[in-house]
Amino acid sequence: MAQEKIRRAVCPGSFDPVTNGHLDIISRAADLYDEVVVAVLVNKTKSTLFTVEERLSLLREVTSKYPNVRIDSFHGLLVDYCQRNSIPVIVKGIRAVSDFDYELKMAQMNRGLTGIDTMFMPTNPEYSFLASSLVKEIATYGGDVSSLVPELVHQHLIARIAERHQDDD
Ligand code: PNS
Repeated sequence: MAQEKIRRAVCPGSFDPVTNGHLDIISRAADLYDEVVVAVLVNKTKSTLFTVEERLSLLREVTSKYPNVRIDSFHGLLVDYCQRNSIPVIVKGIRAVSDFDYELKMAQMNRGLTGIDTMFMPTNPEYSFLASSLVKEIATYGGDVSSLVPELVHQHLIARIAERHQDDD
């Protein structure tokens, strides 16, 4: 008997930290695919606000309502991770034309390397300006980012920034 194919996709990123914009893409991908793997890049050369374990844990909590979403981490090339885990599709959110320029190059390179395709998903316009880097910068200087990240992430963000400020004193 022919086995039914599982449609599996990956949402890769740094997720430092996960924002409502990421969750918009993850939840919509979860509607379209049987299984969505949210894969956190482990990049030892990049300094991050949250450790990989913390980012994984926050992602697990905020995606717990989606039964077909799984959280993982990876080193090295995304396409190697996809091949090892039988994931044929990469899903990427596009916030603006400026994202498309860089994402198109990566998508073409990834397809050229392995045949793994990338699906671009336009972000909800509500989040077209949203980036983890901006969230961290605004929160560091006391700005209100509570509408941009899930409540749990907001709590951890405020606590981590307070710790960093104490260390600086
Ligand atoms: O959230 P980010 O930092 O914008 O995510 C970027 C990410 C992790 C998706 C991208 O840098 C990536 O795929 N890195 C893995 C290394 C890799 O495969 N590089 C070749 C890209 S053609």
